[in-house]
Amino acid sequence: MRRIAFINEKGGTGKTTLAVNTAAWLAREQKLRVLLVDLDTQGHAGKSLGVDVRTLPRNVFHLLTEDGVRLEEVVQPCAVEGLSVLPSYKEMSDFPVAVAQDPRRAHRLADRLAAAEAAGYQALVFDAPPSMGLTTRNILVAATEVVVPVALTYLALDGCAEMVETVKKVGEAEGRPDLRVTKVVPTLYRKTALADAILERLKAYFPDSLAAMPLGFNVKIDEAQSHGKTIWEYAPRSRGAEMLAAIAQEIHDAPSPRKGRAPRVA
Ligand SMILES: Nc1ncnc2c1ncn2[C@@H]1O[C@H](COP(=O)(O)OP(=O)(O)OP(=O)(O)O)[C@@H](O)[C@H]1O
Ligand SMILES: [Mg+2]
Repeated sequence: MRRIAFINEKGGTGKTTLAVNTAAWLAREQKLRVLLVDLDTQGHAGKSLGVDVRTLPRNVFHLLTEDGVRLEEVVQPCAVEGLSVLPSYKEMSDFPVAVAQDPRRAHRLADRLAAAEAAGYQALVFDAPPSMGLTTRNILVAATEVVVPVALTYLALDGCAEMVETVKKVGEAEGRPDLRVTKVVPTLYRKTALADAILERLKAYFPDSLAAMPLGFNVKIDEAQSHGKTIWEYAPRSRGAEMLAAIAQEIHDAPSPRKGRAPRVA
């Protein structure tokens, strides 16, 4: 089973946009049963799929912190066939305190999702919060491959190489030595001299794993989210849809650790 996490401790780099649309692409184009797992207190992954996360009696927080809550009680359907979402919301900010006494607190998510394969899911896609705390550590333990969306702005490179190292270190510390960054995706690209210079730097840093298709700025992408729809439902013939499909294909085709050789990234 593919277990793909979208991670960057910087905010607003396109994690949710890529997680939601890649998950939907895997369901639509690869005909996989996909579970999109939101771990962010903002609940944006569910909201982007039209799920009213504010009114749900239970979300991922309850699955992670309460005994006896089953996966199927928390998972929500959405308009995309084959795609379901495990929603998150504000309660997740209490997660680190709620599990502070548990020595296996970094493995809560992986343990709770052990039932996912038996439930018929064929791919897990994780949308991470913009921080490297316990929640993201749980994602790194539950995932097998990591995609890092990097916004093409002046500060984008700052901390980027360190994050790749952190992913590797957490993997080693938590018994997941195969965990790797398999793709670095440049996002919010606009054709400017500065963005092109940053892109060149990223190519030099990540010769094997940089996505060939940067995610350019396209207003349909933002609009789709505001309507609670994926780009395939909202504007399937837009440039945004074209770019997101190409990126999803690259992520799908990247050699996953499970399949064998993982690309060298640092
Ligand atoms: N290619 C794009 N073109 C236009 N708008 C975009 C594009 N990518 C993302 N956006 C918009 O930018 C905002 C931030 O994107 P997104 O929510 O995916 O980032 P994020 O990394 O998940 O943010 P956070 O760190 O807060 O979770 C959203 O409003 C989204 O609609
Ligand atoms: Mg987000």
